[in-house]
Amino acid sequence: MIPAQFIDELVARSELSDVVSSYVSLTRKGDRLWGLCPFHNEKTPSFSVSQEKQVFYCFGCGKGGGVISFIMEIENLPYAEAIRLLAKRAGLTVPEGEENDAFRVQRERVLRLNHEAARYFHDQLSQPGGARGASYLYDTRRLSKGTVTRFGLGVAPDGWDHLIEAMAEKGFDKRDLLDAGLAVDNKKGRIYDRFRDRVMFPIIDLRGDVIGFGGRVLGDEQPKYLNSPDTVIYNKSRNLFALNLARKSKQGRLILTEGYMDTIALHQAGFDCAVASLGTSLTEHHALLLARYTKEVVIAYDGDGAGTSAAQRAIPILERTGVTVRVLALSGAKDPDEYIGKFGRTAFARLLDRSENHIEYRLAQIQKQYDLSDDEQKVTFLRACAEFIATLQSPVEREVFGSRAAEAAGVSRDAMEQEVKRARSTRARREKKKQERKNLTPTVQLQPRDQSMRYQNIRSARAEEGVIRLLLLEPVLTEKVESRLHPEDFSSPLLGKAYSILCNRYRAGMSTQLAVLAGELEGSEISHLAQVLDRPEALEHSEQAMEDYLSLIEWETAKRSDRAQGEPQESLLAAQARFKEKKSFGGTSHE
Ligand code: CTP
Ligand code: MN
Repeated sequence: MIPAQFIDELVARSELSDVVSSYVSLTRKGDRLWGLCPFHNEKTPSFSVSQEKQVFYCFGCGKGGGVISFIMEIENLPYAEAIRLLAKRAGLTVPEGEENDAFRVQRERVLRLNHEAARYFHDQLSQPGGARGASYLYDTRRLSKGTVTRFGLGVAPDGWDHLIEAMAEKGFDKRDLLDAGLAVDNKKGRIYDRFRDRVMFPIIDLRGDVIGFGGRVLGDEQPKYLNSPDTVIYNKSRNLFALNLARKSKQGRLILTEGYMDTIALHQAGFDCAVASLGTSLTEHHALLLARYTKEVVIAYDGDGAGTSAAQRAIPILERTGVTVRVLALSGAKDPDEYIGKFGRTAFARLLDRSENHIEYRLAQIQKQYDLSDDEQKVTFLRACAEFIATLQSPVEREVFGSRAAEAAGVSRDAMEQEVKRARSTRARREKKKQERKNLTPTVQLQPRDQSMRYQNIRSARAEEGVIRLLLLEPVLTEKVESRLHPEDFSSPLLGKAYSILCNRYRAGMSTQLAVLAGELEGSEISHLAQVLDRPEALEHSEQAMEDYLSLIEWETAKRSDRAQGEPQESLLAAQARFKEKKSFGGTSHE
């Protein structure tokens, strides 16, 4: 457990906008700072930071919170790790308690074990047991010593427990090997090496830690590749192979490949900006990660059908982050590795320069599906093109590519332009309908985004939100509220919980900033509270506002208990009487 006082100090010393600025570029507009949200894809900023409230909130995806939540979310770290990272940043030392966070210990062991295992696999290259693997890398795949070292490649010898034995000598036990995904359980309590008789590719994250492995067979056996399962430190949908190296590239773009060997071959040929997604299709996380390091991504997937459709799926995901997307058209080889082997690096460089921008690519893909000598197919082709071109934001792009499609089909530019216009107005109508439908259900917008937090009583919940907002902004109000309002009076369990935490902290003399609640509430709960805090509140009249909120809650509580007890009106009347009597804190009842 990290002492609460320390966390309070840490939060006080970690200016939210400073911390956020190392990840997001922020611009001031009005009373807050704005930037592109790092948690979802967008092109216009809806992510805001309020320095006054020390809270961030994205109007697009609804993520929000204080400085600790921000680090947890963006670095994908558990609470205690986020605290450590912030402490390091602020130059503070985290006081370590006796009983250490079990999760952290496990993480650290797995990291150390992976590191040792990578070294073991690498060392095997010069051992008799690794001779075949070494020959595979150097001779069959034509990798240089430098490349093998730079990527830390290695070999897992043939046998059931070579790694287990070697790691046991270093003090790692069964549990550690299973946690790291380096060993597999045979269900009878025995474990064996996951990777046997394979060349090994360590996966290294941006901090330089070995977080997992891929292993390839030396021949044609199946499965060709075996990968670490997701573990406490490894999540394949959030990491990219070789990004640790590629992010330092000066080439001004990143090349995205499908495979370990494609990426390694590209690096060896001088294209040090190549990365690979790890045997999964590209996720939004991958895209955001790439966009953090470059403005242009060149997709260099395999030339086969699977590669082409994977590229088509990847394009919009990348596009949404605002990067320019280009697609490499491979021909004469099945993947970049083979291409470079066959035609050399200069040929690949030429290919790279000629790589199509994604619009050309998409149009070419559409064109492939139709026989343009057939009139009927020509019409459907033009419709399909128009529908795609209608989605382009830039009028220049619409014109350029509209003419190109028209040319391909041999129709006039004007005809194509009309077609695109029609497609655009259809789209606009559809959008408008959708928006109208949304606007018709205003209560939906008063509800928390997370279904599990839905309000049962919206009127009361709005007032409860007001109480929480005022307490976060003006903690001293706690003194007057505490005696009147109990956590059970809240219709929303989340807000009741937040209330009781805030009261307890206030009483203990601790900070009541939103940021410090990150240890006690879920990310989605914090996000919702950030939204609550974000709404305007007239602080000049905070006492009266609080009074109004309290009366409303009391009124609603009374209604609820009446309904429950079947004695109508009695407590309602009492609440009404109280309402009249105590117009404000300064009212007669307090004198
Ligand atoms: N992959 C995987 N599991 C498999 C096959 C492939 O995880 N059984 C992943 C690997 O990350 C691999 C990528 O998908 O690097 C691409 O697979 P593939 O095109 O089949 O392999 P290549 O990269 O061409 O590998 P090689 O050149 O070594 O044959
Ligand atoms: Mn290959």
